[in-house]
Amino acid sequence: MTGPLIHNALGATPPVVERAEGVWLWDAEGRRYLDGCSGAVVSAIGHSHPHVTSAIARQAVKVTYAHRGAFTSAAAEEVGARLSRMTGFPGVWLVGSGSEATEAAMQFALQYQREIGRPHRTTFLTARAGYHGSTLGALSASGHARRGAVAGLALDMTALPAGDALRDQGDRTEAEYAAQMLREAREIIERHAGTLAAVMIEPVGGATLGATTHPPGYLQGLKNLCEETGALLIADEVMTGMGRTGTVLACESEAVEPDLVAMGKGLGSGYTPIAGVLVSQRVLDAISAGSGMVLGGHTYAGNPLSAATALAVLEVFEAEDVIARGRAAAVTLRGALDGIAVRHPLVTEVRGRGLLLGIELDAQDRPQGKTALALSAACTAHGLIVYPTTGGYVDAVIVAPPLTIADGEIASLVASLDAALTDVEVALEARQVPHA
Ligand SMILES: Cc1ncc(COP(=O)(O)O)c(C=O)c1O
Repeated sequence: MTGPLIHNALGATPPVVERAEGVWLWDAEGRRYLDGCSGAVVSAIGHSHPHVTSAIARQAVKVTYAHRGAFTSAAAEEVGARLSRMTGFPGVWLVGSGSEATEAAMQFALQYQREIGRPHRTTFLTARAGYHGSTLGALSASGHARRGAVAGLALDMTALPAGDALRDQGDRTEAEYAAQMLREAREIIERHAGTLAAVMIEPVGGATLGATTHPPGYLQGLKNLCEETGALLIADEVMTGMGRTGTVLACESEAVEPDLVAMGKGLGSGYTPIAGVLVSQRVLDAISAGSGMVLGGHTYAGNPLSAATALAVLEVFEAEDVIARGRAAAVTLRGALDGIAVRHPLVTEVRGRGLLLGIELDAQDRPQGKTALALSAACTAHGLIVYPTTGGYVDAVIVAPPLTIADGEIASLVASLDAALTDVEVALEARQVPHA
């Protein structure tokens, strides 16, 4: 199919999707694919869940849109109440996408600092390698190849280390590695402390680093540094939130309490574009004691159709114990991936947390990301979709199927991946590129 619609790679048209169910997608030619990465780590509850599709149909004939300046809806209120119960955060601000969520979280941080009499606190620090979205502010916060899209317009924020044990830990223990990262972070944060509004970080590296984890203690150390210097901590849980790493928020597993959390992806699980910011009491108090008004909002934020859809998704999460199912599936999948990694010299590391897993590929002397793209294409040929990192730092694919994936489906995923790895290895051997 070629036409005026622009795809990322001009002239390369992806297969036409026709329908989907559970972990499976079908194209217009009738080919079936296992969704091994939930799209872009989105479809947490799987595709075409009847509880959600019927909620969409019911809401569609009642009211789909009313502006939040004039109306709220029962569904939007209930989404707020459920997210608050699930996460312990007292405030929930709805937006339409992950990029909007990270930018809204940054605006909340700026407003917090203004409301408490520090209007000069207008800068942010983020990780050198990371991804927070593709709008200008979110790209400014991102150490990712896409940053090139806005070139010199991007503000300079990307200075802090992020966990990348494969490349950076060396002979150090995890504790020594965390301590080294925190020494570096302290030096940078203290240097910016006079103007720093907030630090923003992904609790587990996503689109850029491909499911890298920070060494234990790093996130808490960052939170402590923020407290010491009067900055807020924003956790970007757009990818990691909603149970992707085994707990509702990834920060929970280290008992770290951020001041603001950006969420997206799994919240709508692909049934509607919806995202949000979890707002702590401290930030709410500052706003209510000050202007009492949040300066922000998007036209479609919290619209009744998206809210009813997200509510149905949250109901499925609860009724089907989706997060616990994801934890169990993660153990099975991780074991199987570790198993095939041993047989494939191309694989240098299997890593990640919960059902956010990364496979790093040996990419010596090759442009970063090229081998991952080759593996992703080989997987597609074997009926499996995986998510190649494109940040320009690593050569890795993300494996992150729906949290509801069954054991038999995990076996199919692993068999396709195994075959695809062999294909890429054979192709590399044929070109005599060393990979071991
Ligand atoms: C951690 C993180 N933050 C923000 C975003 C941006 O989300 P969206 O693409 O919905 O704007 C992404 C998307 O991949 C992400 O992984």
